[in-house]
Amino acid sequence: MTKLNFWNSTWHLDEKQCPCDIHFLDYLEEKKSKGRNIFHMGTGSHHIVGLKTASDGANNQVLGITASKEEYAAYIDLLIDNPKLGFSYKAYFGDLYQTDARLLPSLDYATLFHAGEYRTPENDTYGALTDEEVAFVLADRLTPGGEILFYTGSFAYDVAARAGQALVAKKGFKDAGKYKSLHVFKKGP
Ligand SMILES: C[S@@+](CC[C@H](N)C(=O)[O-])C[C@H]1O[C@@H](n2cnc3c(N)ncnc32)[C@H](O)[C@@H]1O
Repeated sequence: MTKLNFWNSTWHLDEKQCPCDIHFLDYLEEKKSKGRNIFHMGTGSHHIVGLKTASDGANNQVLGITASKEEYAAYIDLLIDNPKLGFSYKAYFGDLYQTDARLLPSLDYATLFHAGEYRTPENDTYGALTDEEVAFVLADRLTPGGEILFYTGSFAYDVAARAGQALVAKKGFKDAGKYKSLHVFKKGP
């Protein structure tokens, strides 16, 4: 029987091993980003991107996706204990590779830090998108000047880099260079 390729695990914040979320928060702060819409792949059980943006006064909004039952349960608990979080941070459970543009808001940033890490032939059994296709769906929902960010420390960074190159070749993005462990691709006007 076909089953969703969910992530049968959970991830606690570990800046040494995986600093991408922290570096993204640093990036938002350095750019003084305010009132921006963010799509974030891979919440972790810590939900630091949603939690920090909800409390730093910058009025950024985060739509986060997790493919982990435990991480989603952690979000539910956080929200029950802190209802104000729900105004600016929505997390949902699902497979990134089923992303549909019609269900996405207009975006200023999309993080694909774990592109390529967990996509397997199991995703193909239900017709899931490829990494490049997901990047293109998100690209189409980005405002001009919006950015897609990949994580250079990912074990599948080669896949992410190829998706980034495809954004440049086919979607009018430019390679905006690196910021700490992140690789930024910027949508043209
Ligand atoms: C290693 S954890 C990293 C979490 C967090 N970004 C961090 O760096 O601390 C990988 C994350 O990718 C998410 N993930 C894995 N496969 C996914 C998929 N197909 N769709 C959406 N999220 C997925 C997991 O739920 C998890 O949050």
